[in-house]
Amino acid sequence: MTQEHAQTEGGYPKPGKLEMIWGEGFMSPGGPDEVVRIIADHDLSGCSVLDIGSGLGGAAIVLHQRCGAASVTGFDVQALLVDSARERARALGLTDRLRFVLGTPGPLPFESSSFDAVFSKDAIIHVADKSAIYGEMARLLRPEGRIFIGDWLTSDGRGHGPLMDRFMELAGHDFHLASLAEVGAIVSATGFTDVELIDRGDWYLVEAIAERERLRGELGKAFENRWGFDAYRDELNFWETLVEAVAEGVVRPGHVRARKRF
Ligand SMILES: C[S@@+](CC[C@H](N)C(=O)[O-])C[C@H]1O[C@@H](n2cnc3c(N)ncnc32)[C@H](O)[C@@H]1O
Repeated sequence: MTQEHAQTEGGYPKPGKLEMIWGEGFMSPGGPDEVVRIIADHDLSGCSVLDIGSGLGGAAIVLHQRCGAASVTGFDVQALLVDSARERARALGLTDRLRFVLGTPGPLPFESSSFDAVFSKDAIIHVADKSAIYGEMARLLRPEGRIFIGDWLTSDGRGHGPLMDRFMELAGHDFHLASLAEVGAIVSATGFTDVELIDRGDWYLVEAIAERERLRGELGKAFENRWGFDAYRDELNFWETLVEAVAEGVVRPGHVRARKRF
């Protein structure tokens, strides 16, 4: 997630680096259990689900295997990730259930009212126009369809400042972080009701400290062996800043669930 990494593969780090920290198939924290927590006690059985920013496909597999989704369509803007997700689905014999579509940022390349649910994990942070992307979700959902979103957010009033600047610079991405309340207002304004907003800041602070400690120890040695000292130093440096940003509430993950109004 550092600038050095960002120069590889179209703006995202070599996926293997994040997978070493966050687990196979994932470019975000919490693994399969966090995907299940985003869905909470909602029933996805028989549903067709769109996963926006599907990355390496780990979440799509969980949505099918653990949450009961009949089919999952992953959408991503990076060919390398789409290829990797397709390969993962092939290896599991799930190509009839999971498909991965490559596209470009902007309007999503799907028919209106074609999904029962939209899921996304830690990808909406990349989209500057939140109203547009939540509006797209409303367009793509059938009536009564639901959104299940996990994302990197910020605390109210903390979206700008030196710590955020340092976080962004080390991450090497032009992130767009909104607060949970801001996202809630956008979701309500774009045609959703029954809006649930869940702050995951306290949970992730514990996780992030554990991730940093692992990077300082055995995981760090394995990381350095695989990617070299400079990459390891950059990664650890990023994680030190990530922990600081989460502790200060500058970075504050959250979940958003809601139902399309009609
Ligand atoms: C942090 S990764 C998360 C991937 C995956 N959801 C996970 O949890 O492992 C963010 C993903 O969003 C994708 N992305 C970036 N901009 C996007 C956009 N405008 N539309 C859809 N996906 C996007 C990236 O290519 C990347 O796969």
